[in-house]
Amino acid sequence: MSKTIQENILDFDFKKSDTRYGPHGIHTWLAAMIPPLAKKLIEKTKPTNLLDPFSGGGTVCVEGILNKIPATAVDANPLSYIITKAKTTPLTHSKTKDLFEEIKNDATNNDFTEFHFPDYKEYRTEYWFKEEHFGPLNSLARSIYEIKNKKLKVFFQCVFSATVRDVSLTYRNEIRLRRLEPKDLVKFDRDVLKTFETRYEKTLDRLKELPSKSNAKVITGDVKKMPFKNNEFSTIICSPPYGDERNGVPYFQFTKNMAYWLGIPKNDLESYKKNVLGWFNKETILEKHSPESKTFRKLLKDIKSNQKNVNEAISFYSDYNIALQEMSRVTNDKIVIVIGNRVLNKTIVNNAKITTELFENLGIKLSEHLKRDLPSKRIPRFGDSKIVEGGQIDKEDILIYSLKK
Ligand SMILES: C[S@@+](CC[C@H](N)C(=O)[O-])C[C@H]1O[C@@H](n2cnc3c(N)ncnc32)[C@H](O)[C@@H]1O
Repeated sequence: MSKTIQENILDFDFKKSDTRYGPHGIHTWLAAMIPPLAKKLIEKTKPTNLLDPFSGGGTVCVEGILNKIPATAVDANPLSYIITKAKTTPLTHSKTKDLFEEIKNDATNNDFTEFHFPDYKEYRTEYWFKEEHFGPLNSLARSIYEIKNKKLKVFFQCVFSATVRDVSLTYRNEIRLRRLEPKDLVKFDRDVLKTFETRYEKTLDRLKELPSKSNAKVITGDVKKMPFKNNEFSTIICSPPYGDERNGVPYFQFTKNMAYWLGIPKNDLESYKKNVLGWFNKETILEKHSPESKTFRKLLKDIKSNQKNVNEAISFYSDYNIALQEMSRVTNDKIVIVIGNRVLNKTIVNNAKITTELFENLGIKLSEHLKRDLPSKRIPRFGDSKIVEGGQIDKEDILIYSLKK
């Protein structure tokens, strides 16, 4: 990392700010960027055409749209498309009200006979939901799946997805899915239709804050091969995953209960998962190459006693390297990466250093390195708590790379 770059600790923890304002509060995402940070980074880098290739819950794209900047989002996870598109698409009340009443009435008068989508067993739907909720969820799922108008469909999919998460039998403050224990299950009392109505009203209300003609471009795709021209964007602002799904944040596990009721077949979900950074099997691991980075080489030495972790690291950083190359291909001014350290085989991995070394191979220099305290981002704990506290969850690196010579 360039010695001339100062690591400034910034007052970017936004302790007193509202972090779920406007459309941001419509639907949650794991390890989402906090909106005031995205806003500040937009103010700092002044994009004219903004891309977030790891869109997740759409924070960067929403801030782009709120600030009237053309914005594009990519994510490998199909639920990210629904959330990002819904959060950036304005709707009028009159259009949605009639449809809402219709969908709700159908669900009120519905008797459950069988699941509408066939792969409920693969999704273990009966394990993750209360039996008395099958009827209304099934009816809402069927009605929403059949909506023809694209804008209305994505709006109701997002409202419904948030509802599904609200009523699923899992702990909502944990990063991995875990079924409610009996003592919590007996206390868990949520009504599907009331939840759906509350979510509907809140979503519609929050969308009023979007500029009237906003229209973000949103794509379900792979950062490693994006369908964009060279230099198409001025600026990327993003937070990439810190590691693969097994060792890092399990975005696909988080998604699966919502995916079932949205009618995404389990096989489709599995094939989307193959695009995720770090995914590999016996054949594809042979195609992955250790990227050129001193810090990465050292990591491989430090974890060599655990071959599984070695393969996971090679796979993840090989993909990450391709992602950075692709990101630099489509951008002409600045790339901002928000990332933190992670732990693999009890070894702290300095993701910021690796990122900078990989960009240096491409002739791209770090122009600013900021650090911020991490008060609220939800990051999983990895075993040894001392390592975690010292190296992983309490700080986040904000790396600004300048592409202009
Ligand atoms: C840290 S999250 C981004 C959170 C986002 N900034 C937000 O505010 O919600 C990282 C995202 O990278 C996505 N991802 C992982 N591999 C990807 C790939 N190959 N292409 C595109 N997105 C990918 C994950 O699905 C996840 O949503």
